[in-house]
Amino acid sequence: MRNILSLLCFTIVLISCKEQTEIGLITEKAMVVSARVEASEIGSSILKKGGNAYDAMVATHFALAVVYPVAGNIGGGGFMVYRNNDGTKGALDFREKAPITAHKDMYLDSLGNVIKNKSVLGAHAVGIPGSVAGVFEVHQKLGSLPFSDLVQPAIDLAKNGITITKKQAKDLNNATERFRKVNNYQTIFDKEWKAGDTLIQNELAQTLERIRDFGKDGFYKGKTADLLVNYITELGGIISHKDLENYKAIWRKPIEFSYKGHDITSMTLPASGGICLAQILKSIEPYNLTQIEHNSTKYIQLLTEAERRAYADRAHYLGDIDFVDVPLDSLANTKYLKKRMNSFSWDKATPSSAVSHGKILGYESDETTHYSIVDQFGNAVSVTTTLNTGYGSKVLVKGAGFFLNNEMDDFSSKPGVPNVYGLVGSKANAIAPEKRMLSSMTPTIVEKDGQLKMVVGTPGGSTIITSVLQNILNVVDYKMGMQESVNKPRFHHQWLPDVIRMEPNGFDDNTKTRLNDLGYDLLERNSLIIGRVDAILVLPSGKLEAGADKRGDDAAAGF
Ligand code: GLY
Repeated sequence: MRNILSLLCFTIVLISCKEQTEIGLITEKAMVVSARVEASEIGSSILKKGGNAYDAMVATHFALAVVYPVAGNIGGGGFMVYRNNDGTKGALDFREKAPITAHKDMYLDSLGNVIKNKSVLGAHAVGIPGSVAGVFEVHQKLGSLPFSDLVQPAIDLAKNGITITKKQAKDLNNATERFRKVNNYQTIFDKEWKAGDTLIQNELAQTLERIRDFGKDGFYKGKTADLLVNYITELGGIISHKDLENYKAIWRKPIEFSYKGHDITSMTLPASGGICLAQILKSIEPYNLTQIEHNSTKYIQLLTEAERRAYADRAHYLGDIDFVDVPLDSLANTKYLKKRMNSFSWDKATPSSAVSHGKILGYESDETTHYSIVDQFGNAVSVTTTLNTGYGSKVLVKGAGFFLNNEMDDFSSKPGVPNVYGLVGSKANAIAPEKRMLSSMTPTIVEKDGQLKMVVGTPGGSTIITSVLQNILNVVDYKMGMQESVNKPRFHHQWLPDVIRMEPNGFDDNTKTRLNDLGYDLLERNSLIIGRVDAILVLPSGKLEAGADKRGDDAAAGF
């Protein structure tokens, strides 16, 4: 009897553990999911005060700049996709751009070789930041509460201090040497961190006060601009006042397509996310996934082969649409994609060496962060923003307290030479003055029958697109809940290098052996995680379920 009782208790504990980890926060009306609980709570408190999703976006964005310095930012850029409660949709591009005096060969030595790390570390790696212009633009067009009220919580957070988590302490300690190498003064981040330490950021608070008081001009002009330009100049970089004054966020027409009865809206170029996601989903659509087990050999094969072909097209065709013609309609054309998949065989891997970009018939016209918001009025916002790699260029603007991005590395410094994510590019993504570098960011909104269904996005460099993809498939084809979907192990293929990256301990040995036998090379490393997805699912009841990624400190808040 005692044995049966213990077994029963054990089973109950197991079931409740599963429920705790597999079901995300559920709220009635509104929700913010972001990389840190403080930022989600600040966004949610703005919604509670009657603000809308756009107000919450402003507050969440500035809060992340304080509480998540590895990627939350005012010195970076990003993209937003939104859906108003009346079903109208749009997209904002606040991607960084190259300085006016940038040029195609700026990262090459006299022999034409790429100078190691010049586009990754230090003042030369920095693109003109777009975040403050982007957030300000959103507020001007769609916000409802006073701008200053939305910046203030971040200022308070910076002055009062934030508590460093275990993961943050590890990240900061890993970057210390590079902070020292790049900066010519001792930054506030230069110490041995441990979980529970408090970080007070007075200079960042002052910068945020200037933004609160002068809006966009508080960053792109006046004291902040002087501090930024002077410091970059001291470090030998090329950003000028004119670069900052010229920066504009741009409203763009998002990429829209259907997948198995769902309408998907995602970001357009210079973010490659939307078009690549469309290509991969459209390539997979003819296959009946109900007959293919989730994360099985066949599933991984199918996605890998679709991804391989889409990333080969990405490398050749994609760049800033204000500078190059990109055949977006042809690339997402069903017949074209069917033809691309003709060479796919269940019997063996197609080597990437045998795959190039497709032939288009005629031209028609690792650190980022994502947050998802749904407000009590039914508006939805999907934002991915980044400094590029962790802490960006590691340049912390002296006197202004914020990190600058190293987004210049997202350009193709030289055709065929991989960037920090192993991505290669071509002429379409070559550097040019004031051009925006190609991104993989994929802020996305999914609708079903004209109603909002899901808001999703993630950081993760080149793995962003495939992480968003897998979460859409988890929900649409495999009927998972949001947290369950986010928890699932992920994998990634990007044409080159020709390898399937897999999260460690996520896939069974038989699956991996069969993939090896079919000719797939696998890469599993202990530290490797793929994306940190923060998403919201509208449940059939109309309630919202969060998917906050446990790979990070991500958390949801709402009511
Ligand atoms: N910096 C990563 C991306 O934009 O894709």
